[in-house]
Amino acid sequence: MIDDKLKHIAIIMDGNGRWAEARGKKRSAGHKAGSETLEKIATHAVDIGLKYLSVYAFSTDNFKRSEEEVNYLMDLFIEMFTKNFEKLLDKGIKVVFSGAKEGLRADVLNAMDDIVERSKNNNKATLNVCLNYGGREEIIRACERYHEDLVSGKVKKGEINRDTFTRYLDNDLPPIDILIRTGKEKRVSNFMLYELYYAEMYFLDTLFPDFTPEMLDDIIADFYGVERRFGGINYEKSSS
Ligand code: IPE
Ligand code: IPE
Ligand code: MG
Repeated sequence: MIDDKLKHIAIIMDGNGRWAEARGKKRSAGHKAGSETLEKIATHAVDIGLKYLSVYAFSTDNFKRSEEEVNYLMDLFIEMFTKNFEKLLDKGIKVVFSGAKEGLRADVLNAMDDIVERSKNNNKATLNVCLNYGGREEIIRACERYHEDLVSGKVKKGEINRDTFTRYLDNDLPPIDILIRTGKEKRVSNFMLYELYYAEMYFLDTLFPDFTPEMLDDIIADFYGVERRFGGINYEKSSS
């Protein structure tokens, strides 16, 4: 079971397209399968006591993909937020979003607003869905909000530190303890750059639709064996 040492897991859910292509299916079939995997993983995460789960659902750069794929994903998001996530809400999950609102379709924005509203009083765990998201863009938005507070005098120069600056991010979440990226690539692809600062990183060959709750358990078990030093030295352990 999870304790205070592990508050926040983030997942780059990559490999849906390759999963489908390997089965001779359209990429959309991979996204559908990935959405079912997300439901299973989020359910498991709340069951084992995780408080914060962030997932990369759609990057701002993903708008470079074909209109067909982007539209499929947007329709799938609507279906997830209006229907498929109902069980997650019943489990006490609060859904929040990170990312830019500009550029998203009105029906997608409505579905997002709706699930945020319906789940706002849930307090068992928070699912942060990063949609139309970019890490650099989030930092710029945070700087703009901070600047407004400086100009209005709400905060003074020197008052904000690296921990309290998170209040200006899209959501004020604890730092990420574990980053998981499925789908073979070893990169962060502009994901939660501020929040990842001391995250333990796990890069899996497994394609996201094949990711299982047991794999999540194995990663958590490994995490509990890691000595996190945050730049310091454990003098009890070190010989010199
Ligand atoms: C991740 O899977 C989902 C999104 C980016 C929306 P991909 O669609 O990137 O799958 P691959 O990497 O092409 O296999
Ligand atoms: C990252 O995956 C974005 C999501 C999982 C939503 P990409 O497939 O877009 O990233 P790159 O292009 O491999 O870096
Ligand atoms: Mg990919």
